Amino acid sequence: MNSFFNSIFLLGIFLFHSLETSFGSVVSTGDFNKDFFVTWSPTHVNTSADGRSRSLKLDQESGSGFASNDMFLFGQIDMPIKLVPGHSAGTVLAFYLTSDQPNRDEIDFEFLGNVSDQPYILQTNVFADGFDDREERIYLWFDPTKDFHTYSILWNLHQIVFMVDSIPIRTYRNHADKGVAYPRWQPMSIKMSLWDGSSWATNGGKDKIDWSKGPFIASFANYTIDACVWKGNARFCRADSSSNWWNKEELSSLTWKQRRWFKWVRRYHLIYDYCQDNKRFQNNLPKECYLSKY
Ligand SMILES: *[C@@H]1O[C@H](CO)[C@@H](O)[C@H](O)[C@H]1NC(C)=O
Ligand SMILES: *[C@@H]1O[C@H](CO)[C@@H](O)[C@H](O)[C@H]1NC(C)=O
Ligand SMILES: *[C@@H]1O[C@H](CO)[C@@H](O)[C@H](O)[C@H]1NC(C)=O
Repeated sequence: MNSFFNSIFLLGIFLFHSLETSFGSVVSTGDFNKDFFVTWSPTHVNTSADGRSRSLKLDQESGSGFASNDMFLFGQIDMPIKLVPGHSAGTVLAFYLTSDQPNRDEIDFEFLGNVSDQPYILQTNVFADGFDDREERIYLWFDPTKDFHTYSILWNLHQIVFMVDSIPIRTYRNHADKGVAYPRWQPMSIKMSLWDGSSWATNGGKDKIDWSKGPFIASFANYTIDACVWKGNARFCRADSSSNWWNKEELSSLTWKQRRWFKWVRRYHLIYDYCQDNKRFQNNLPKECYLSKY
């Protein structure tokens, strides 16, 4: 009798676990208070009463930041951001995924402020297995301080796509079979921070922060996270199952329509690409520079 009930009990636990692990993907709550915690200077972080919008402040006293409660392995994150308006030279707003390990994987958006009426630079970077040096820079085709625009990261087994208002501005493909490091094992958390990058951000560090123009404030709202929540086992997020939508065939490279946009961005808005910097790499560009972007 006892062992019969024991078996039922164990079966129940087993079913419960399978259910839990097969629903690894979350569509976020949209509430900053529920999905994120403040990592840096709570007095400089302001969240609306409904939790749907949040701002970060940088002043002479401190910068600020927050990070996701969960870690993720693959999925998509959409983050609407309104950047610091007016004179923002020297400020850096970062929105990134990071594994925070010594051999870290990281996917970065960094917005480099500027003096009034001059364009921000959007810098992107990818760390794989601790190596970075993969900067690209673009000018945006709109004023990012007037309204919210959505900055997105799609990350799966095949590719990483950086998007601005759904327009792909950069890809980093999985060429691991050709010996190129690709972030594919380490779960990452989502982080946001606003800080003083005076030493390098604007005009190569010549335009410093002017504290008299502060405080500097950037805002976030209505994000979505649809990604595989890390539960200690990469297998669940990598599996070819219907719930792992991010690994779907049609997301394995850019669509034709996306390629057209991608080429438009690269032709008219790209201002720096490490893959074109022969001087820096002494004519020995990283391997991925010779491989397809889609
Ligand atoms: C916080 O944000 C609200 C609007 O969302 C604003 O009215 C208030 O002044 C802000 N508080 C601080 C300390 O910045
Ligand atoms: C700031 O504006 C200047 C002048 O238009 C431009 O050359 C520079 O790339 C802009 N961005 C940064 C981050 O310096
Ligand atoms: C966020 O979404 C809510 C509900 O749709 C909307 O009322 C609000 O204006 C949005 N906020 C921003 C900053 O887009």
